[in-house]
Amino acid sequence: MIRTLLVANPKGGSGKTTIATNIAGYLAGRNERVVLWDLDRQRSALKWLELRPEELPRIMPFSAEESLAGANWLVLDSPAGLHGKSLTRLLKLAHKVIVPVQPSLFDLDATRDFMLTLSEAKAVKKQNTLVAMVGMRVDARTRAASQLDSFLEEFDLPVLTCLRNTQIYVNASFEGSSLFDLPGNQARRDMEQWAPLLEWIEDFPSE
Ligand SMILES: Nc1ncnc2c1ncn2[C@@H]1O[C@H](COP(=O)(O)OP(=O)(O)OP(=O)(O)O)[C@@H](O)[C@H]1O
Ligand SMILES: [Mg+2]
Repeated sequence: MIRTLLVANPKGGSGKTTIATNIAGYLAGRNERVVLWDLDRQRSALKWLELRPEELPRIMPFSAEESLAGANWLVLDSPAGLHGKSLTRLLKLAHKVIVPVQPSLFDLDATRDFMLTLSEAKAVKKQNTLVAMVGMRVDARTRAASQLDSFLEEFDLPVLTCLRNTQIYVNASFEGSSLFDLPGNQARRDMEQWAPLLEWIEDFPSE
């Protein structure tokens, strides 16, 4: 079975590609066979893969069905504006959906409708597809962070973690790296923030 993860939020710039590429980097570092499927015409995740140095744990780009042969994880990076039939199709395909949300008025507002759509989707209602949220670029003790907290409480969905705003993500992406590829303790604090998300991702019943 290929474990399929969808990273989605129709709001542009919410952190989808950052989450998707870092998940792929993490899994590859655990010796998992990972395919990254970039569904966005902007091809950001694919560009990141092209930059990825050969000596880092390998992540395969999705090209055709054949690229899934032998893979045990498929990570889907979805485009801004995802809705309707494309969304329904992806929800059927995915075992788990991760929704990154940034703590700004505009992001929260745009994400609310998406969360409602998700909670009404058949695959989600039947619990074939699990959904969780992640706070993105959240600096604790800011007003934005408490606004995000009350927003996230509106939904009966797990909030796995909040990831801080740091250039580490930006710099790593220029190198085709994830946090998990960085040497030494550079990203220790951030990796700690990732721990609950990774645990949720990896929690699959044994086959
Ligand atoms: N935790 C973070 N700290 C700092 N910068 C971040 C963080 N998360 C994302 N970014 C930056 O924010 C920008 C938007 O993130 P990203 O491209 O991952 O969003 P997206 O949802 O994929 O956007 P799009 O909807 O255009 O596909 C990028 O420049 C990214 O490097
Ligand atoms: Mg993107």
